[in-house]
Amino acid sequence: MSKKRIGILTSGGDCPGLNAVIRGAVKTSSQLGYECVGFLKGYEGLYDPVRYINLTQKNTTGILNQGGTILGSTNKGRFAATVGVADRVELDPELLEGVKTTVDQLGIEGLVCVGGDGSLAVAQQFHEFGIPVVGVPKTIDNDLSATAFTFGFDSAIDCATNALDRLHTTAASHERIMVLEVMGRHAGWIALHAGIAGGGDVILIPEISWTFEDVCHKILDRESKGKRFTLVVVAEGAELPDGGLVSEDRQGAQARLGGIGQIVAAEIERRLLKETRTAVLGHLQRGGAPTTFDRVLATQYGAHAVRLIVEGRFGDMVCYHPPEVGSVPIIEAVNKLRQVDPNGSAVQAARALGVSFGDQVAGERAFTIRAEPAEVSTAEEIELDAEFVLDLAEAAAEEALAQS
Ligand code: F6P
Repeated sequence: MSKKRIGILTSGGDCPGLNAVIRGAVKTSSQLGYECVGFLKGYEGLYDPVRYINLTQKNTTGILNQGGTILGSTNKGRFAATVGVADRVELDPELLEGVKTTVDQLGIEGLVCVGGDGSLAVAQQFHEFGIPVVGVPKTIDNDLSATAFTFGFDSAIDCATNALDRLHTTAASHERIMVLEVMGRHAGWIALHAGIAGGGDVILIPEISWTFEDVCHKILDRESKGKRFTLVVVAEGAELPDGGLVSEDRQGAQARLGGIGQIVAAEIERRLLKETRTAVLGHLQRGGAPTTFDRVLATQYGAHAVRLIVEGRFGDMVCYHPPEVGSVPIIEAVNKLRQVDPNGSAVQAARALGVSFGDQVAGERAFTIRAEPAEVSTAEEIELDAEFVLDLAEAAAEEALAQS
């Protein structure tokens, strides 16, 4: 009797860790007595023409630390029309019938669909049509509900943090403003986390309205303290103060965000007459080897997805609620975007350190242009002004050093 089979595919934009999921699923399948087949180019390989390869321990050896996906992926094509449950576009029933026939004919007991919001919305439609699927959340944007982390995010912020470290030294040498544009679509997770890890001075994200006045104000504030360079991190999906998103117009396709970094830099330079440069990180954030965290998460996701199939829990998606990996119905993950909480602890911690979000938050104004820090004398003012306190500590340390 032929072995039972599990299918797997990777869909949507790629990210580091996809191969680790594939490897995790193949190894687990094999332990549990299942064969594994991998469909090529995301959902496209499921129908007309059906394209797949047999996945074995042998041909998945050595892929744990490889970026990209050995199965290929696409965020275009016949299965890309659906963008989430709230804004749902029904898949062509002929496609659904075709996929069901493929799954039946190949004897696939369950299909592991690895993807982001749009791809999981497709998986949800498969589920409703009676095709046995489970989901694995993937995206560098980390914007999926029902999971604390998607794999790929940690690798993306590692890349962005590294870029900030590099920009820091050149910004300091030339006393320039450096604007780093990062990805993330309509969520500011990448900008926020990389901004904190890389010592960004200004972080602009979609979840917090900001103004050029406040951005410039922060830059001037730093200058007044002798810090003649500033690192600005801007999320591609941050809205301009007039409310507009910056994107490439693409007829009939989902808007491709990007370009805000250049606009922010030009406006800072115009207002402050200070040399300003932009770096756009783009797809570098999606390439290369996954970080340790992403390897562990992706491996667990692959193993857990197979267990869901074995247990017949179709329509579920694996998820991570630290410290455990578990599962939730796919429908709970795809119906809303998970954005940064503007009052969350990460934003608050950044503010406490003096990071500006380009908005006028009480307390932040208290940091601003003080010709004579000694004049700030009331307890209330000093309490509001965390950076001032740090400055005092720094000045005291410098003085002590000078006297030693
Ligand atoms: O969703 C992942 C992501 O990298 C976004 O951060 C970005 O806006 C988009 O995909 C880019 O898509 P593409 O690879 O089609 O240019």
